[in-house]
Amino acid sequence: MKALHIEASPDQIAPFVMLPGDPLRAKHIAETFFENPNCYNQIRNMFGFTGNWQGQRVSVQGTGMGIPSMSIYVNELIRFYNAKTLIRVGTCGSIHPDLKCGDIILAQGGCSDGNINNHTFSGMNFAPIADFDLLRKAARKAEELNLHFKTGNVLSSDVFYNDNKDFYRIWADHNVLGIEMETAGLYTIAAKHKVRALSILTVSDNILTGELSTPTERQTSFTTMVHLALSCTKV
Ligand code: HPA
Repeated sequence: MKALHIEASPDQIAPFVMLPGDPLRAKHIAETFFENPNCYNQIRNMFGFTGNWQGQRVSVQGTGMGIPSMSIYVNELIRFYNAKTLIRVGTCGSIHPDLKCGDIILAQGGCSDGNINNHTFSGMNFAPIADFDLLRKAARKAEELNLHFKTGNVLSSDVFYNDNKDFYRIWADHNVLGIEMETAGLYTIAAKHKVRALSILTVSDNILTGELSTPTERQTSFTTMVHLALSCTKV
């Protein structure tokens, strides 16, 4: 079987892949951070690029939103292109009083309100976790840069527009820091294939207060997050 959603030839993707949800963010990362970026995927406009960063070959692949879309790209990257390190660079809504727009979450674990892991584990609970080495590298770099960040659990939700405005309370009560839509799926797929994964998230909105980040905040925190991800290429 061949990959159906990525058209790259086998050697066109690096073992280290950053994963933004938005394909235009993938293009932006490649154009801003990579030397000699090469676009290896245009199927569905879900752009993927490979280039060099400080002498290392690295890739960036858009994933779309939600666990089902992300899973397609991550499965193909691992199964057909031998990806070994996968770092999501995304946004989340904060449900923690100390995390404001522009702050960063290093997702240590991923909870989920979706059903994918219920199928896989027949109703039992699997705890999707980040790769410890990547988490430690990102946390050390974040400390070195004096960033405002927290490490902890996030919720990967299947529902962006939730009719129940209190849906987040049970998660906030259990010290979950933020809500996004992919991490629990990414960590589960990585575990199955014995590869390394981490989600680095910037807070784009505050679910507790309704605050939204400004375009400048988004740009700055996005750049910081990519730097943290790339720092994980170092030993
Ligand atoms: N909910 C889910 N996903 C998100 C959010 C949110 O509030 N913000 C950014 N990604």
